[in-house]
Amino acid sequence: MSDTVLNQFTPPTEEEAIDTSRKLKVGIIGTGWIAESHIESYKQMPDVEIVAAADLIPGKAEKFFKRYGVEGVRLYPDHKSMLDAEAENLDAVSICTYNATHAECTIYALQKGVNVLLEKPMCVTIEEAEAICKAEKESGKLLSIGFQPRMDDNMKMIKKIVESGELGKIYYIQTGGGRRRGIPNSTFIEKKTAGIGALGDIGCYSLDMVLNAIGYPKPLTVTGYTSNFLGTNPLYNNPADAARFNVDDFAAAFIRLEGDIILDFRIAWAMHVDTPGDTIIMGTKGALRIPSTECWNGTVGGPMTLYRDVAGEQTETTIPLCPEGDSFGGLFYKKIRSFLDAVKNGGEAPVPTSQILYNQAIISGIQKSAELGREIEIEIPEI
Ligand SMILES: NC(=O)c1ccc[n+]([C@@H]2O[C@H](COP(=O)([O-])OP(=O)(O)OC[C@H]3O[C@@H](n4cnc5c(N)ncnc54)[C@H](O)[C@@H]3O)[C@@H](O)[C@H]2O)c1
Repeated sequence: MSDTVLNQFTPPTEEEAIDTSRKLKVGIIGTGWIAESHIESYKQMPDVEIVAAADLIPGKAEKFFKRYGVEGVRLYPDHKSMLDAEAENLDAVSICTYNATHAECTIYALQKGVNVLLEKPMCVTIEEAEAICKAEKESGKLLSIGFQPRMDDNMKMIKKIVESGELGKIYYIQTGGGRRRGIPNSTFIEKKTAGIGALGDIGCYSLDMVLNAIGYPKPLTVTGYTSNFLGTNPLYNNPADAARFNVDDFAAAFIRLEGDIILDFRIAWAMHVDTPGDTIIMGTKGALRIPSTECWNGTVGGPMTLYRDVAGEQTETTIPLCPEGDSFGGLFYKKIRSFLDAVKNGGEAPVPTSQILYNQAIISGIQKSAELGREIEIEIPEI
């Protein structure tokens, strides 16, 4: 392959300069595990002041800020009391609650006029997604969804390759991934807090990786399957967790997208095989293989391979991994920074709900189809 073709896949180096003339006042709703990555990023930003936070568990937020040596944060027992008291002081909030409270916290913050960075997945149901998008539209505020893998250079490369036209028209994608054993615990495994299991937790990333690359075409129909054989089995999960486990640990689906594209998807927190397969994007002129990936960490599983015919010969080109990929923390910083820059400069949401609504519609469609045991049309609400 010529250098000119390879060069168009080389990621640019981005230098950022932070304007500290205006401080942004931010709040954190939910001070659990992922809030740690938010505070670690905020602490590195000279133009950010964390002024308020909330958590339902008494004493949790106090301990959280003590651990990070951040003083003077006003603390509240839930999102409502925090937003009632603080909305006028806040430029933005990070919503770091478990999935089941994403919608109520986000809608309340938007209605109070606060910009929101919401952790993934967007929410639990398509009805919640519709209500979130409507609240966003009515508020005129910025809402971005927390998909930090989008900030990764290798992930950006996938989109660049598709957009370069080297693959021709895309007609089939196989994606997903998962772990042989890697069932989370705490609030991830019950409907009352998580709402959805592996499908929402890591499936949303696999879907985003390929849908973002191909420009988020509208999903049309789905045949979905979910199960939880390993999560509920004390042989494969901690017995106390197995006893309360009531979400999916595996999901698979066959999805039709606008533009005559097929998406073949599978995801697992646990299974009796190392991987359900690589991600493959097939087009009329070429195909791309992305080795089975921990895309939830923003990493691809190894160098990608581009398959094309050149001068009548079948060729394979290795796309080298971008040399100094960011750590999880680095991607997190970029995700938060891009959101705050948009807040500061009146820009667009880096990960807009117009795209993630389709991601959520697929997730909800898989669940509904799995319950009904048949193919269904995917519901896309009018916003
Ligand atoms: N982007 C990522 O890489 C990533 C990684 C892990 C988790 N997540 C997402 O982050 C979210 C939180 O996950 P976690 O592991 O931090 O969960 P967690 O259970 O450790 O923390 C959630 C916290 O939110 C609090 N909370 C819930 N509802 C609240 C409300 N109404 N007001 C105030 N506090 C409330 C809970 O008390 C809890 O302390 C999930 O949606 C998860 O999918 C994202």
